[in-house]
Amino acid sequence: MELVCPTCCGAMRSESDAWLCEPCARRYPVRDGVACFLEDADPFYEGMFTGTRHAERPETFPGRLLLPFRIAWSLDMHYTALLRRHLSARHRRILDLGCGGGNGELLRYGAEVAGADLSFASLRNAATVYSCVAQTSASRLPFPDDYFDALASFNFLGHVAPDEKEAVYAEMRRVLKPGGLALHNMETSSEGALFRYVRRDPEFYQRQMIDLDGHVGIELPSRALQRFRDEGFDVVNVRRDHVWYFFPYGQAKKRFDDDFSRRNLWLRLLLQLDHAIENRPRLQKAWDLVMGVPSSLFAALAPLDRTIGLSVALRKRN
Ligand SMILES: C[S@@+](CC[C@H](N)C(=O)[O-])C[C@H]1O[C@@H](n2cnc3c(N)ncnc32)[C@H](O)[C@@H]1O
Ligand SMILES: [Zn+2]
Repeated sequence: MELVCPTCCGAMRSESDAWLCEPCARRYPVRDGVACFLEDADPFYEGMFTGTRHAERPETFPGRLLLPFRIAWSLDMHYTALLRRHLSARHRRILDLGCGGGNGELLRYGAEVAGADLSFASLRNAATVYSCVAQTSASRLPFPDDYFDALASFNFLGHVAPDEKEAVYAEMRRVLKPGGLALHNMETSSEGALFRYVRRDPEFYQRQMIDLDGHVGIELPSRALQRFRDEGFDVVNVRRDHVWYFFPYGQAKKRFDDDFSRRNLWLRLLLQLDHAIENRPRLQKAWDLVMGVPSSLFAALAPLDRTIGLSVALRKRN
């Protein structure tokens, strides 16, 4: 991979333990395979999302038969399906933004993959998967203009704060080749019943829906799509992730185990269900299968802004 200096945009040379900028003579250290462009660790994200993702590929015949139903449900699988639908061997160079510990699925077609993230601990894992990883903010990427055939992100764009969005979208556009492909699975806000109910208590909403994961940049799906258009991307395909009735297991326990949400019948039921299937993988799988199809149907039929989360494919406008 080629890198450019994030300070002066000059070409850089790779040394054994650093990248050296020829025009401005800045030196960026490489530690444990991670090219470091940040002086300080990010206080929120450092060490938070370190896991490397590997797509689940069922080996058994019944497992493969049931896969479409499960894809209907799990967010991880929505993303895998999005990548499989749009990526091919034509995409020789791919960038994973907010890559965490990396995603083996992006290597499927033999591309050279680079990852960018704030967390060093996550990137140390990603460095075992990708050929180049950079500790850097997505608002200032150390890659040349028109460089990648595709870029991808999973649960990243909802973490980009409003005052950072313009810079991040501009960088995504800059590093992508004209006509290049962008694939994102992104967290969104919603006008659905769950979000409307939870917003009745603004302090609870802020704490449990925003601060808990750092979802400082979630927007309504329609706003998120408009932003892509405004930033020079054409929308190729949109999939609504889910609606609130069928929230993925584990989520209710994580977010709604609280007096405020226990006052709501639906949330109480979801909470009880979450507790009932906790640590019981077979029951979780059964829930996946039972809910996969209705969840997809509800999401597909719901008005755009009632869904939570989008999987989108975009093309950089020439
Ligand atoms: C929810 S995690 C998802 C990680 C990974 N994509 C995955 O699938 O596990 C969001 C990631 O975005 C990264 N992130 C947040 N803001 C960022 C920014 N401005 N620039 C680069 N990475 C950022 C965080 O460090 C974190 O690893
Ligand atoms: Zn420089």
